[in-house]
Amino acid sequence: MKTYAEYLQLVEGALSAQLASLGYIPEKLFEAMDYSLSAGGKRLRPVLLLAACDTLGGDVNEALPFACALEMIHTYSLIHDDLPAMDNDDYRRGRLTNHKVYGEDMAILAGDGLLHHAMETMADACLKNPTPQTTGAMKAIAHGAGVFGMLTGQVVDVFMEGKPLDIETLDFIHLNKTAAMIRGALESGAICGGADAETVAQFGLAGEKIGVAFQILDDILDVTSTLEELGK
Ligand code: IPE
Ligand code: IPE
Ligand code: MG
Repeated sequence: MKTYAEYLQLVEGALSAQLASLGYIPEKLFEAMDYSLSAGGKRLRPVLLLAACDTLGGDVNEALPFACALEMIHTYSLIHDDLPAMDNDDYRRGRLTNHKVYGEDMAILAGDGLLHHAMETMADACLKNPTPQTTGAMKAIAHGAGVFGMLTGQVVDVFMEGKPLDIETLDFIHLNKTAAMIRGALESGAICGGADAETVAQFGLAGEKIGVAFQILDDILDVTSTLEELGK
């Protein structure tokens, strides 16, 4: 097992390499993708993915493309979440939000760019090492991010904006918009670590609990912290 800082260093190095490998894409698109992805952030999800793999005796290097892809998807979700049509926020990760710098059109496209590049990164890892583990790791991430997870959570969050919430609906939002991606991180890491189905499910459940607690704390900090403290 490594420390959080050591996993973080692996993630940062791999993300920089991913950006450097993009080659020729329109300059503005690259700048806008790089602006949000390189802005830091806790990198909680990729670190959890690597730690899960490592704990189970897997090869962290095999898990790295999935960790990077997960962070790219998370970053895309933040860019879109901050848009005027969504939460209309001005700051993220200690900087102006993507649309404030590059405009709404480019922010939408930069988010799309990160999402699709994440999918290609995972597909490349699957092609390089075509096993049930790599395909399963990709599936766990896509499942947590899409209509069975984060996306649906965002839909209900938007739909319920300004309306009174009962605890079941609040739970549903937390479980989907935030916990599903963290569940995906731990499941994907466990699969990379060679875990059996039951262990993967246990890691996933732990991810759900961490995710719900994480979102509750995030909502409290949104009210009790300053922009300087939170960076958003
Ligand atoms: C922010 O996630 C969005 C939520 C789901 C609460 P993080 O708090 O992990 O944001 P970064 O990645 O550190 O910026
Ligand atoms: C964002 O949730 C969750 C995403 C799926 C992007 P919030 O809207 O509560 O998080 P912040 O406060 O913008 O980081
Ligand atoms: Mg928001």
